[in-house]
Amino acid sequence: MTYEQIIKKYASLLKEVTHIPVKEVEMLLLFLLDKNPIWLHLNYKNECDCEDALGKLVKKRATDFPIEYLTNRANFYGESFEVRQNVLIPRPETEILVEKAEKILKEFENPKVLEIGVGSGIVSVMLAKLIPNIEIVGVDINEDALELATLNAKKFGVEDKITFLKSDLFENVADEKFDMCISNPPYIKNDFKLPKNVTFEPSNALFGGDDGDELLKKIINGAAENKIHYLYCEMGFDQKSRLEQYIKVYKPKSCEFYKDYEKLDRGFCIEFDVER
Ligand SMILES: C[S@@+](CC[C@H](N)C(=O)[O-])C[C@H]1O[C@@H](n2cnc3c(N)ncnc32)[C@H](O)[C@@H]1O
Repeated sequence: MTYEQIIKKYASLLKEVTHIPVKEVEMLLLFLLDKNPIWLHLNYKNECDCEDALGKLVKKRATDFPIEYLTNRANFYGESFEVRQNVLIPRPETEILVEKAEKILKEFENPKVLEIGVGSGIVSVMLAKLIPNIEIVGVDINEDALELATLNAKKFGVEDKITFLKSDLFENVADEKFDMCISNPPYIKNDFKLPKNVTFEPSNALFGGDDGDELLKKIINGAAENKIHYLYCEMGFDQKSRLEQYIKVYKPKSCEFYKDYEKLDRGFCIEFDVER
């Protein structure tokens, strides 16, 4: 069978799990052959000699296993990042968090930033790419995440700007001074029933506690206690009112909540009233 025929045949197996089945089979094929889309375009009518290997990948994808874990790639902020199982797959809405942070950090000459929960490293790596003279400490409790984040920092040549280390929230960075803390922490309620594709991702990257916002509250406390000027966080779409009340107690200089691409509440930016 030709590549064109094989793609058509296997696309039918993916109709239930994606609205772009042809594209996804093509992505799996290109990953398998380590080729680019132009190559495929030129070779559509040629014989395919990797049907068995492609079939295995497509069948795994048909179980709703994320394509990013099959191809070890995910796009974020227009860049292609390495992805591995046991580390959260980047989500498009986290780009908004990076954009918001970039705007403020540009005003600093030598900003020092703490990222809590680096995962694949997308946030720290993008900030390191976007902001000259930035110094970042990125922490996570998951060693696989720290390893992957280091790999991505090297891939984008920003490893000198970021120190990754294992830490439960602020535990191992309490003595350092930061201008900003940024985090996309786990914020889903423990009893929330995840869609099947999300169940393949690590639960300690997703669930934030019985209410969902427990880690967010600890991060707010930690940022205030450590006198960090700015705190930028992603949160759940239904957590605004509780967190708004919680943040008020700290009497911040300002607190802005922002929405995601679907117009759902998705995060907040706090400026604490601290001496620079
Ligand atoms: C929602 S993921 C975000 C990953 C990445 N920053 C992103 O936006 O794709 C949350 C991350 O926080 C980490 N994490 C969970 N609990 C933590 C804790 N107590 N201290 C530090 N990191 C934690 C998880 O291992 C996971 O990598």
